[in-house]
Amino acid sequence: MDGGAEPLKPIPDIGRGPRHVAIIMDGNGRWATQRGRPRLFGHHAGARRVREIVEACPDLGVKYLTIFAFSTENWKRTQVEVAGLMNLFRRYITKEARALREAGVRVRFIGDRVRLDAKLVAMMDELENLTCENDLVHLTIALNYGGRDEVARATKRLAQDVANGRLDPASVNEETLPRYLDTCVLPDPDLVIRTSGEARISNFLLWQSAYAEYEFIDTLWPDFTRQEFASLVESYSNRERRFGAVPA
Ligand code: FPP
Repeated sequence: MDGGAEPLKPIPDIGRGPRHVAIIMDGNGRWATQRGRPRLFGHHAGARRVREIVEACPDLGVKYLTIFAFSTENWKRTQVEVAGLMNLFRRYITKEARALREAGVRVRFIGDRVRLDAKLVAMMDELENLTCENDLVHLTIALNYGGRDEVARATKRLAQDVANGRLDPASVNEETLPRYLDTCVLPDPDLVIRTSGEARISNFLLWQSAYAEYEFIDTLWPDFTRQEFASLVESYSNRERRFGAVPA
């Protein structure tokens, strides 16, 4: 986090902007292929983009940023790509930890840690602890995350509480399940962005995004800039969210 970038143009009406933005960072592989390079080259370029986007959040009034780094389905990729991505996550944590702490970023990870390498999990825990006092930006990294998997794991814990007599099944309503989700301390996303021209949500934050606004943009993730981020935040602030009600 170098903090040396030019300030972004102030967004009129920043109070109406999204407080929580979630991003499906897609297109790294195609970006690398277009350059005749291996897919991992694109993932490394994508990791460098994360810094620029996190740094832009305070100027844009974005307090929570959640990024999809590795899905429960991504294990189906080649062993070389999976191992390269895991290595990239370890390098990212080592390289960025201090800068994230100094920049006031609180980092959290969501997803199932059981299948992840023990060394990586220890590094994730350490980064969460190192940044736990920060409050300027809350960065959540989804790693081995799948929305259905998260709901299944949450349901299992909820069922255990019922079985142990800690939860009355008659009291279960739509406010109960979110307390068991990985995102229990986060507000729901207001805006979900997916790069690379695909209009799918790919099992990302299924429960939490019920009322989110979506932006599907053609830019490949390694080309996504803070200016483009700012313009999506600005166009969100011009939208009217109704949550099922009629306009005032
Ligand atoms: C999707 O592009 C991207 C991923 C599966 C990995 C996302 C990871 C990063 C941006 C890198 C690092 C993140 C952190 C937090 C260090 P794709 O490979 O599916 O692209 P394609 O659709 O063009 O093949």
